Amino acid sequence: MKFDVVTVFPDLVEQVTSVGVVGRARERELLDVTVHDLRDFTTDRHRTVDDAPFGGGPGMVLKVEPFVRAAALVKQRRGQPDAVILMSPQGETFTHEAAVRLSRLDHVVLLCGRYQGVDERVREQVATEEISIGDYVLSGGELAAGVVIDAVARQVPGVVGNSESVATDSFVRQILDYPTYTRPARLNGHAVPEVLVSGDHGEIRRWRKREAVRRTLRRRPDLLRRACLDDEERSCLRELQAGETNQESAPHDGRRQ
Ligand code: ADE
Repeated sequence: MKFDVVTVFPDLVEQVTSVGVVGRARERELLDVTVHDLRDFTTDRHRTVDDAPFGGGPGMVLKVEPFVRAAALVKQRRGQPDAVILMSPQGETFTHEAAVRLSRLDHVVLLCGRYQGVDERVREQVATEEISIGDYVLSGGELAAGVVIDAVARQVPGVVGNSESVATDSFVRQILDYPTYTRPARLNGHAVPEVLVSGDHGEIRRWRKREAVRRTLRRRPDLLRRACLDDEERSCLRELQAGETNQESAPHDGRRQ
């Protein structure tokens, strides 16, 4: 899968996509991330990418022409992209479903906004869609582009070594992860839940299901409306909702479960 990213901070995008799972996927050529400096698509001596907004107001607006030229160069060199996405807080909120959808495309262009905004014609004439990674404003779209690339890359076959871990990621089934522990089995007087060191795999599986449901009910009850639960999880949920099993079996993890 190919990404082209257009930004005024190419080093930032290079760095966030050069480490970990995404970095390895690039090395293994499962993923191609080509970063373009928006300033390379300017024509003036000062390589100007922004200007004051028509009508007045604070801040500067990223100009349309450099984005138009960048998109044309990407198309000429790398072919017609399947999607050209403007990263912006005004976009549609990015979700697991969007990551899966984008992972099925071959070629995606990400345009990073900056400053007070982007000339509206970038939306109208260059982008095919607009994505926000959440209801907060970042200083620019670069980190958001890194988030999208990471989440999408995880859905590309072969990128994550253990495909089971992608299949069981929280938002595949809309249920949060159960708590996990590793050595030491006891720390500052707190032991890990007994069941996990019991060797009883049936009990461990049941405990994990129950804790995942409990955690989702407490932290993200909104997810449970859409969650695909099996019979066992549904019965856990009913019990928990009825308040029959309110006792926390996991030790504190530094916050309310
Ligand atoms: N640029 C600034 N804030 C953003 C956000 N929340 N999502 C995507 N791009 C952004």
